[in-house]
Amino acid sequence: MARRRQLYEGTAKVLFEGPEPGTVVQHFKDDASSDNKQKRGVITGKGVINNRISEYLMTRMTDVGIPTHFVRRLNMREQLVREVEIIPLDIVVRNVVAGSLARRFGLPDGQRLERSIVEFYHKNDELGNPMVLEEHITAFGWATHQEIDEVIALSLRINDFLYGLFIGHGIRLIDFKVEFGRLWDGEQQRIVLADEVSPDNCRLWDAETGDKLGKDRFREGMDRVAEAYQEVARRLGILPEGGFGDISGPTLVQ
Ligand code: TMP
Repeated sequence: MARRRQLYEGTAKVLFEGPEPGTVVQHFKDDASSDNKQKRGVITGKGVINNRISEYLMTRMTDVGIPTHFVRRLNMREQLVREVEIIPLDIVVRNVVAGSLARRFGLPDGQRLERSIVEFYHKNDELGNPMVLEEHITAFGWATHQEIDEVIALSLRINDFLYGLFIGHGIRLIDFKVEFGRLWDGEQQRIVLADEVSPDNCRLWDAETGDKLGKDRFREGMDRVAEAYQEVARRLGILPEGGFGDISGPTLVQ
């Protein structure tokens, strides 16, 4: 097999040059990190599940006109996406108090917010992804005011859509992180949802019991981490009968 050119490797994903110009292959790994990479581990089968869940959620979002970079899933661990210029921001949308919001303001986990909050963080691991204001974003030239307005509007649409989708499967969407990129269609530039939408970057709790599903279990050193990822896929109806088969193997082919 021809060796592919690697563009980037992060904790959870590797990006390769795609088969056609303007495309990228996203490879999902089982590696996980939290607390700004202080804590590291492997969640068996996570990459396979996140590949499926992100495919499912981005496809559903495309159905309602939310623009994304997703093209198609290629195999168990890989998907083809459009190449975009990533806006260097992590955008966090919160519906319920948890995580760093609870810590910062000394609030109890689980308190519903009167209105959803959109926060911006600068994507920079070395600096610990500092929170930034619109003033920083425009002054540093990371995005224009118009782009920020579009990012906020899209983030809130994504939140409304995902909240409704998850609650229909008995899951409460507490908060999530998304990234956006610029995509050129000829002379036209558009902002599209990029990266992934999966239990790695969505805080998901069981709507009835408040049980933590997804990455919270890893962050907090709880048991049944891999099972929680599978449970999210099962509830979304995308876990094939008998599971995904062998999802534990070393499958990174370059
Ligand atoms: P936080 O409460 O730790 O700020 O996280 C808010 C949401 O953003 C939570 O769903 C996890 C997600 N997130 C990421 O996906 N990547 C990150 O680097 C951080 C800090 C948060």
